[in-house]
Amino acid sequence: MTVEITSSNVEELIAKHLTEEFADDNKVRALSQHFRREGYVKLSGLVSPEIFAAVTKETHDILDLHAKRIDIHLKETGNTPRFMSTVSQAAIAADAKLIPAVYESPALKGFLSRIAAEEVMDCPWEGEKYIIIRQERVGDTHGWHWGDFPFTVIWIIEAPATEFGGMLQTVPHTDWNKEDPQVSEYLINNVIKTWPHSTGELYFLRSDTTLHRTIPLNADRTRIILNTCWGNAATAGRPQSHETMEAMFD
Ligand SMILES: [Fe+2]
Repeated sequence: MTVEITSSNVEELIAKHLTEEFADDNKVRALSQHFRREGYVKLSGLVSPEIFAAVTKETHDILDLHAKRIDIHLKETGNTPRFMSTVSQAAIAADAKLIPAVYESPALKGFLSRIAAEEVMDCPWEGEKYIIIRQERVGDTHGWHWGDFPFTVIWIIEAPATEFGGMLQTVPHTDWNKEDPQVSEYLINNVIKTWPHSTGELYFLRSDTTLHRTIPLNADRTRIILNTCWGNAATAGRPQSHETMEAMFD
């Protein structure tokens, strides 16, 4: 019997799945060390395939209703490009039920806190809690940038084969100075790592101190992500500007 996944039963299902999937403390410790070393770790078992499928369906429905095309460069990250379609947090909150419930899940936040080795808390700014991005045209890319908040889970709703681009690249343990981002200097002076992902995978990113981008698509192919983002004790109640988010989302 398949249970329909709803905003009311998703917390229980996430909690049960995480208990079963991550029973081995050594495995969780190794994931946490990878996350803290690289600013990145793949967490494909974070939710069950059934929950991922339900979130995927809702993401497609919301994209159909609200996708907005942008083609801009942002000075706060050294004029790097954003060529993509976006859906804002407000649009998702208005029409989605499951994505907000998954975001709020205490079991999910509790598990991510084990990986982060510090408490993962709700993002203090509504606008960055969850957003959707679709790349679709040759040249589409989310250029080099940092996030305003520390913890991000990316849900790979759809990814092209790596021969078409779209992979994540990272430079961990770097700091974002919005007045003088020094992106080229960071790329010159550090090792850039490249991480491939397939449809159905998830990854956890230390988004505020990991300079990151996606490799531009080299053909008209579709790459869709759901981005869910949380804060920590340091960002709780901290005044924060959101220039790059406001330029990208309604
Ligand atoms: Fe990002």
